[in-house]
Amino acid sequence: MKTLLVTGGAGFIGSNFIKMLLENEQWRIVNLDALTYAGNLETLQDIDDPRYVFVKGDIRDRETVESVFATYDVTRVIHFAAESHVDRSIVEPDVFLTTNVLGTQVLLDAAKRHWNLRPDDKHSRDYSEGVKFVHVSTDEVYGTLGPDGLFTETTPLAPNSPYSASKASSDLIVRAYHETYGLPVNITRCSNNYGPYQFPEKLIPLMIQRAERGETLPVYGDGQQIRDWLHVKDHCVAIWTVAERGRDGDVYNIGGNNEQANVTIVRLILELLGKDDSQITFVTDRPGHDRRYAIDNTKITTELGWRPAYTFDQGLRETVDWYVTHPDWIDHIVSGDYAHYYDKMYAKG
Ligand code: NAD
Ligand code: TYD
Repeated sequence: MKTLLVTGGAGFIGSNFIKMLLENEQWRIVNLDALTYAGNLETLQDIDDPRYVFVKGDIRDRETVESVFATYDVTRVIHFAAESHVDRSIVEPDVFLTTNVLGTQVLLDAAKRHWNLRPDDKHSRDYSEGVKFVHVSTDEVYGTLGPDGLFTETTPLAPNSPYSASKASSDLIVRAYHETYGLPVNITRCSNNYGPYQFPEKLIPLMIQRAERGETLPVYGDGQQIRDWLHVKDHCVAIWTVAERGRDGDVYNIGGNNEQANVTIVRLILELLGKDDSQITFVTDRPGHDRRYAIDNTKITTELGWRPAYTFDQGLRETVDWYVTHPDWIDHIVSGDYAHYYDKMYAKG
């Protein structure tokens, strides 16, 4: 059985991805995750499958990464691991650079060394059949849009936050490993995701849990910033489609043509919870706040035949319902209990 390395699989998108893949494909999956504040093994506790292996480790640690490649004979990587929250990057940018940029380079190095047929020959561009490194990136690398226009794969990179700048930098080092060493890579750039198991610092889960508790709902600035929301399961299918059929070296934008203003989403959530708008509070805007993101998905839809399955109406309804019916998952995060799950599960003699 072939082995897939998923990095950051205890996070929001990685955990949804692992569950999808175990259900639909015959791959062994090694999940390499450092379990930062955003990594939550409770999300994966239902998995009881010999094809799934968890390794606690940091992508910046060469020894760990090398050992994972050697021990499990990895032939494909889906690289999710990252610091992912813009607000945190404004307060503490350093870790965004070390994890998102340097960590990515450590992974690329290991992939090159293990997959190249003549690793000691610096001119060798020959790799084992079928290997692939998929780097999961974001539409935020393109910067911000005015009222019109869409991001295409050739839109110049113009990141505005330390988070998006670190992701853009990682995209460029991935590109360089393809151009210089011929490493088979793809870069995916997706718009904002929503769905189950998202850390409640991000807009949608934050607003759902605060609304339920009767707390204020902090909308930045005028709330008219636009994001192009995609259900996490649609993103996961798109990533696997690229991994299977993407052209080596290519970038694929992923989005579902679903532009929504932030305050509209907050109002929709309140409506689904049967509440009025009185909890909404407009607060000081985020510094450097991008006004609008919107994806042109022509390439992935026409070349690879991917299309989103969820409508926003259905996806948001199901998502609100999921958080309402899984209060323990959120409560353990708020109380900090989730962080002890690893010790409970793995640290006993
Ligand atoms: P997340 O913050 O929920 O999860 C990140 C995971 O990476 C966590 O499990 C964390 O423990 C792990 N991690 C962090 N640093 C690590 C390190 N040094 N070594 C090993 N593991 C480490 O993030 P997410 O929302 O699931 O995003 C996953 C990827 O998708 C990121 O690369 C992000 O940039 C990208 N992306 C996210 C969105 C979105 O809307 N969430 C949209 C487009 C792209
Ligand atoms: P977020 O979920 O942090 O994703 P990103 O910044 O990567 O797009 O935020 C989504 C949008 O919601 C963004 O425009 C900022 C806004 N926002 C608020 O207005 N209030 C909040 O408390 C948060 C977390 C986000």
